[in-house]
Amino acid sequence: MNNKAKTAIIFGATSGLGWAISTLFHQNNWNTLCFGRRIERLMGFRAGVCNERCSKNQIYCGNICNQKHVKEAIEKCLEVFGQIDCVLVTAAVYTTPHKNISNKIRQVFDVNVWGYLNVVSELSNKLKRPSHAVPVFAISSTLSQKAVSGSLPYSFSKSALEKLVQLLPGDISQKLIKCRVYTAPPFNSEMNQTSTKSAHDVAQDLYRMVETEI
Ligand SMILES: NC(=O)c1ccc[n+]([C@@H]2O[C@H](COP(=O)([O-])OP(=O)(O)OC[C@H]3O[C@@H](n4cnc5c(N)ncnc54)[C@H](OP(=O)(O)O)[C@@H]3O)[C@@H](O)[C@H]2O)c1
Repeated sequence: MNNKAKTAIIFGATSGLGWAISTLFHQNNWNTLCFGRRIERLMGFRAGVCNERCSKNQIYCGNICNQKHVKEAIEKCLEVFGQIDCVLVTAAVYTTPHKNISNKIRQVFDVNVWGYLNVVSELSNKLKRPSHAVPVFAISSTLSQKAVSGSLPYSFSKSALEKLVQLLPGDISQKLIKCRVYTAPPFNSEMNQTSTKSAHDVAQDLYRMVETEI
């Protein structure tokens, strides 16, 4: 890693792992574009974490399922910072047991799987020959291999996400992107309020992986 400030986009930055890794990027002098649906949380990140160094942070209020939002966020990042060095897709939803399982699978897939694909396809349209392929991290879960207590749609989406990342062909990513999976252990967040491990600890581990990829 050289000393020039790097730039990251974090999809799903408004809580949990996304918030924690955005904070680490900021503390390590990265430029960040934070993406999520809740504007008040994005504004809170800017005011609370970035404080006086707001020029190093941009926010985009949007839905990862919406291709136009993803495209505009990437454009905004390139316009303001002129580059993208790393992308993290931490946006995801979990489900509780539900009778209409096929609808639930669809809803969860929309965010957890197609969201990632939206990001990869829009990036491959927008990136102009970066000096190195840009790593785009998907976050998987230890639940990808099993479904416990009603987590089937979620587990199913995470196994599909892992396969997608493994199999995404070069003609989609056009060698501009390297797709990576980080498998997180259970940690405390809006999604999981029973774990005692902090999102910050997991973010530190993820940040180390980011550093090896750029
Ligand atoms: N927590 C765990 O135990 C655990 C374990 C293993 C893996 N993971 C994975 O780690 C990642 C982060 O999870 P977390 O626990 O930090 O979750 P979290 O606190 O629930 O955060 C999820 C984030 O996703 C965003 N999001 C959800 N739907 C979205 C959409 N349609 N468009 C844009 N953003 C959307 C949410 O923001 P808005 O609501 O503002 O849009 C929020 O910032 C996920 O991939 C999760 O599956 C979590």
